[in-house]
Amino acid sequence: MLNSRLFPRFGDKQNSEFFETYLQRVLEERDRSGLTEMIGGIEALIINVEPGNSIEYVAELSLMTPYHYLVTLDSPKHLTHVLRIDMNSPDILLREVKDADYHDIFRSLNDIYPIGARRHHSRYMGEILLASHRHEVVALQQAREFRFFPVGQLAELDLPINVSLSKPSPYTQNVVGYMERPADGIRVYQHGECTILSAVQAAYERGKEMQTRLGIDDLILPIDHLATRVYSQNREAALLEYLSLSSYYYWGSYDIKDQNSSTNVTKNVRQALESASPAKVFTANNLPYCVNHLDGLPSPTETFVRNYGPRLHHMALAVRDGQRKGKEHIDFVVDAIAAQGKGFLLDTVGSREEGLKQIFSQASEFSSLIIECVQRFGDFQGFFARDNVALLTFAAGLEEGVQNSSLQMN
Ligand SMILES: [Fe+2]
Repeated sequence: MLNSRLFPRFGDKQNSEFFETYLQRVLEERDRSGLTEMIGGIEALIINVEPGNSIEYVAELSLMTPYHYLVTLDSPKHLTHVLRIDMNSPDILLREVKDADYHDIFRSLNDIYPIGARRHHSRYMGEILLASHRHEVVALQQAREFRFFPVGQLAELDLPINVSLSKPSPYTQNVVGYMERPADGIRVYQHGECTILSAVQAAYERGKEMQTRLGIDDLILPIDHLATRVYSQNREAALLEYLSLSSYYYWGSYDIKDQNSSTNVTKNVRQALESASPAKVFTANNLPYCVNHLDGLPSPTETFVRNYGPRLHHMALAVRDGQRKGKEHIDFVVDAIAAQGKGFLLDTVGSREEGLKQIFSQASEFSSLIIECVQRFGDFQGFFARDNVALLTFAAGLEEGVQNSSLQMN
């Protein structure tokens, strides 16, 4: 039996006694119930965008990531482009709503936040996890008070019917889905009519040709981690909730005091490579905004959450270790992409001595998501150097949407 409580703890962030006690209880019960055994890694990520935006986002992802365009699933309310690297890494399901006036619960989650509302449909929805016995997993989770969309509502929401989907989390507003797949079988989404759209294919080829021409196609690796921002008071609950819904374990938390923020990491219990099942990271302010006026501390993380709502902030892609033309690979990749007009929020931070180098792109104009690139040197296993995270968190606070809204709010 898998044991989710045997892993070494990293980080220096002090958790509450409540968290430490319930972390052990949650993991112990999850292991004992068989859920840890039945739930596998991340099979797919679901991203929604506005009408007309998915084609250019495919071009952008095709340049900046190793993803390939596979097919489009044409269903009544959406076009869903399936992007895939191979069966060893999660797919991306990129959903474009067909009608700008379409309303559903996911749009409502955007519409109550000042910057989120500017793009009604653009949001990262969540992950689909592999499940060996999907209905048993869902029944067990429902017995533990986790809520799922009934099949009829899934059809109404126009989502694949072979995926069980949780209701959005009250802490992260992300969903968690479960789907089955035979060992060595390929992923199949029972959804709409399967077609290859020439405009999407052309955008994909344009991105990939550019990637090859720039000489970066062999340097960008699959997703390393997914970082969600939540309200300060929800940090521990968001971690416990994700650990209950997944088979991940708690790796540890780093206190980024400079930025009044912490970075909290969970990783897959089978110790698969991140490329197979990315780490899930939760970032939260140390103190809620309502007491900021007392100490005047920076607050980029909570400002983001107040502007967009709790949601995914960035997807981090690994960059192959090494150097090309006298530059670290990450600098070679960033310089090449920046020369094509794609902006980054800062220069690469970190060094070989610190173990890794990282950077944030500007938020995509198509999805609002930031892409992080991260190069680890040698056998460095960590997720960040503390100074890096402080600089990245600060830079993310300069992101246009966050800045604009801070001005409006003041
Ligand atoms: Fe990150």
